[in-house]
Amino acid sequence: MTVNAKSSASAGNTWRDLPAAQQPEYPDAEALRDVIADLESYPPLVFAGECDQLRARLASVAKGEAFLLQGGDCAEAFDGVSADHIRNKLKTLLQMGAVLTYAASVPVVKVGRIAGQYSKPRSKGTETRDGVTLPTYRGDSVNGFDFNEKARIPDPERLKRMYNASASTLNLVRAFTTGGYADLRQVHAWNQDFVKSSPSGQRYEQLAREIDNALNFMRACGTDPEEFKTVEFYASHEALLLDYESALTRVDSRTGKLYDVSGHMVWIGERTRQLDGAHIEFASKIRNPIGIKLGPTTTAEDALQYIERLDPDREPGRLTFIVRMGADKVRDKLPELVEKVTASGATVAWVTDPMHGNTFEAASGHKTRRFDDVLDEVKGFFEVHKGLGTHPGGIHVELTGDDVTECVGGGDEIFVDDLHQRYETACDPRLNRSQSLDLAFLVAEMYRDQ
Ligand code: PEP
Ligand code: CO
Repeated sequence: MTVNAKSSASAGNTWRDLPAAQQPEYPDAEALRDVIADLESYPPLVFAGECDQLRARLASVAKGEAFLLQGGDCAEAFDGVSADHIRNKLKTLLQMGAVLTYAASVPVVKVGRIAGQYSKPRSKGTETRDGVTLPTYRGDSVNGFDFNEKARIPDPERLKRMYNASASTLNLVRAFTTGGYADLRQVHAWNQDFVKSSPSGQRYEQLAREIDNALNFMRACGTDPEEFKTVEFYASHEALLLDYESALTRVDSRTGKLYDVSGHMVWIGERTRQLDGAHIEFASKIRNPIGIKLGPTTTAEDALQYIERLDPDREPGRLTFIVRMGADKVRDKLPELVEKVTASGATVAWVTDPMHGNTFEAASGHKTRRFDDVLDEVKGFFEVHKGLGTHPGGIHVELTGDDVTECVGGGDEIFVDDLHQRYETACDPRLNRSQSLDLAFLVAEMYRDQ
């Protein structure tokens, strides 16, 4: 056991003196205090040493020696904690990872938006339907999705449900990734199946055949590497609810440093990245690798300030900039940021989130994204890095392993009129399994042209 059972009362709580955006308004402060006290006594979900290992992997990403694949739901849901959902998501991520590893010829660091991604920042505090106004849905960790007063009142007991849902998800993820299920040859067989059985997959026959040849060659040589049998997989989520995150922040007895043991990596979202705000303060106190979403209004000065606050020692792997500018802005806005950050001497990982700058509302009322816009933002991101001689470090995507109809386009095309068929997300629209694999093959092709 490397982590003390009690959270450090002081250092992990300095954020309490600062404005904290996007926090729920709990009607019963005492109930919240009781829940926090319980959470503080719960065992860690991850170990500090695992967070350090991920930081080392992300250091390779920052230095141009590895690629980050980060993906999963926009919002996990308590009723989505089932073997099928978790397996399908994992399977999709592993399939994407295999394709990218081959094409990029560098290790792919695999990180899920998983086992903790239950809290959502919202642009509006309330929602009105047919003249009735209620608090907005903020994720299963806060309130219920159903549109009625009882469901929408923030309930601190849900923080404990989030902990339990995260624990059981992580348990299955660990079993899948280390128990033989994720053997690379198995993952490749799933990809061959996708290539054979789906019209969009057929375009990637050549690449799949090359991977097959490489694996056959190794088999013929008599190699059977241990590395093929298990997968290193990490969990990440947005560190939004600071009561929860700080209750799970513990002192690591090896190093005396604080770690947020709710997940390996946490990120700060576009709506909570105020330099003088509570979220940045909280992140500055923990040793986990930290991501920050950078939207189109981010200035180079902001980026340099984030480095100053969160990565004062200029430690590669500590900070990942997750750029989500929109397909129409990334080519204009990103170069100055990358140039000035590089000139400052900092080594951060640059990752593209091609989802959040490309959301629009379809005529049907569904929040959606076009596959082509997603792809175009990734292309823009790669172009910028190619132009500057810097490393396009990875992709951060919202996806599910299920055959939902939430984003339009893709090889097995989904049309606006199809959106209603399986629109299941509790928040933002996700790429479905086939769109996710499509994206992986297309990014693989881009990486090879880089
Ligand atoms: C998200 O990742 O689901 C999200 C809300 O992103 P952003 O903070 O970039 O808007
Ligand atoms: Co989202």
